[in-house]
Amino acid sequence: MQELKIIHKSAYPRSKDSIERKTIRCYGIMQSFQLMKLFENKLKELYWSEKTLIKVIKKMIGSVRSEKLNDVLSDHLTETEKQVLRIEYIFKIIEKKAVPKKYEVMCSVIKEAVLTIDKREPGNRYDAAINSAIKIIELHEISSYREICEIAKNLRLIIAVEFLEVTLKMEEAVYEKLSVMTFNEVNIETECGIETGAY
Ligand SMILES: [Fe+2]
Repeated sequence: MQELKIIHKSAYPRSKDSIERKTIRCYGIMQSFQLMKLFENKLKELYWSEKTLIKVIKKMIGSVRSEKLNDVLSDHLTETEKQVLRIEYIFKIIEKKAVPKKYEVMCSVIKEAVLTIDKREPGNRYDAAINSAIKIIELHEISSYREICEIAKNLRLIIAVEFLEVTLKMEEAVYEKLSVMTFNEVNIETECGIETGAY
């Protein structure tokens, strides 16, 4: 009887515990694996976005009349080139090949921006349209970088988080610069005729 008690106390609960612990461990590994796959996928999409944006920003530079808007675009081109290098470094950290993957959401907003450039009619109205197009792109970039930062934090990819947060701050700063400019520098009011009473 005493022997049975020992079996009951030590063997059965312990084995149940160990099965549970193994299940939790396996579940944790699976979750980490899936999260890493998600991180890699998002990184590829951002890589595609930044590389595509380099071409788009180059097209925008020189097409706008506002000097300040042109300066912001030129500075952001340099920043975007560095953002690409940062993403390539993160691929090295996770020991994956840097491969761009088309980001469908970003692709549609980039297409809108390209359409605006192609229908160019130099002037304040065009500058305002470019300002708006790049701001929409920036908003998408900001939400994407915030999301990937959260995933990287969950995966405890400390260096990747640092790098991604540097880029996120850059995107937020550009958005702020463009937002202020909409009213002060691009001067939509005059072009739309509000001051002249045309509307
Ligand atoms: Fe960017």
